[in-house]
Amino acid sequence: MSFAADVRAGLSHHPKTLAAKYFYDELGSTLFEAICKLPEYYLTRAETEILEHHADEIVDCVGTPIELIELGSGSAMKTRYLIDAAFRRQPTLQYRPIDISKSALDESTSALREAYPNLSVDPHADDYLQGLRRLRRDNGQRALVLFLGSNVGNFDPAEAERTLHAVSSTLRNGDAVLLGADLKKDPAILHAAYDDPLGVTAAFNKNILLRINRELGGHFDLAAFEHRAVWSAPAGRVEMLLVSTQAQRVPIDRLGMSVVLEAGETIHTESSYKYDAGQIETLARATGFEVVQRWMDSSGGFSSNLLKRA
Ligand code: AVJ
Repeated sequence: MSFAADVRAGLSHHPKTLAAKYFYDELGSTLFEAICKLPEYYLTRAETEILEHHADEIVDCVGTPIELIELGSGSAMKTRYLIDAAFRRQPTLQYRPIDISKSALDESTSALREAYPNLSVDPHADDYLQGLRRLRRDNGQRALVLFLGSNVGNFDPAEAERTLHAVSSTLRNGDAVLLGADLKKDPAILHAAYDDPLGVTAAFNKNILLRINRELGGHFDLAAFEHRAVWSAPAGRVEMLLVSTQAQRVPIDRLGMSVVLEAGETIHTESSYKYDAGQIETLARATGFEVVQRWMDSSGGFSSNLLKRA
């Protein structure tokens, strides 16, 4: 579905929703990069620590020569640890990033081509399922699919299964998935990570309204919305919401509709599911995989899981 169709459906729905994948226009991608540098957003540093220490072991668990496929590659900075490890074992390497953000993909592709003359980059500006469908696996090489950064956390359990199933069906025996999953922890730590005092996450969240204004002729007044992050223990997820601070009616010209919001009404923009070891194993098994190795950062808050087809 297109941005327009998804916005129409999500804002007609009760409760109102917008899909998290639409955060990542050019400004949104830049704001996410800023989030990764916040002291409260521990995820990126935790996963970087794991990859820095274990990239060689991870690549050896799969075996070389390999190609790397990545879902939601963003700036691909963490990927460099795996690229380096692969190049220590083979002279050339193919890297196939799939990312919804054209701007992030263009930037990371040219930076990687410049840094690694022997790297062949095959970028796909697409969502995961489309991108996976368009990948042609014809070079007979073993693949390591990178699904890092807790990107899987955006999916509710059914969508996570669907996505890993799609990954599984593009894989052959011997291929593997490296799944980065953030773990359940003290709700205060989670809350701070998704509602930072500098307000970068709030800006990232509200930017989706700015995008509707720009691309669909929306008339959202960003000052009439507040960012909120809540940990739902029963669902096991952080929910990001935009809260309407007043009763308002917001036309969206190019959709020919008006959105009516009550004071205090919320728009759900993102879920970030947090896992425990058992849930990761259940997800792997349900999609035809087995967790063959797990690494954690020194705080124990983040996990990198190597999945192979069972
Ligand atoms: C890119 C989906 C992993 O859920 O932690 C960061 C996005 N949202 N702060 C996450 C995000 C708010 C991030 N993921």
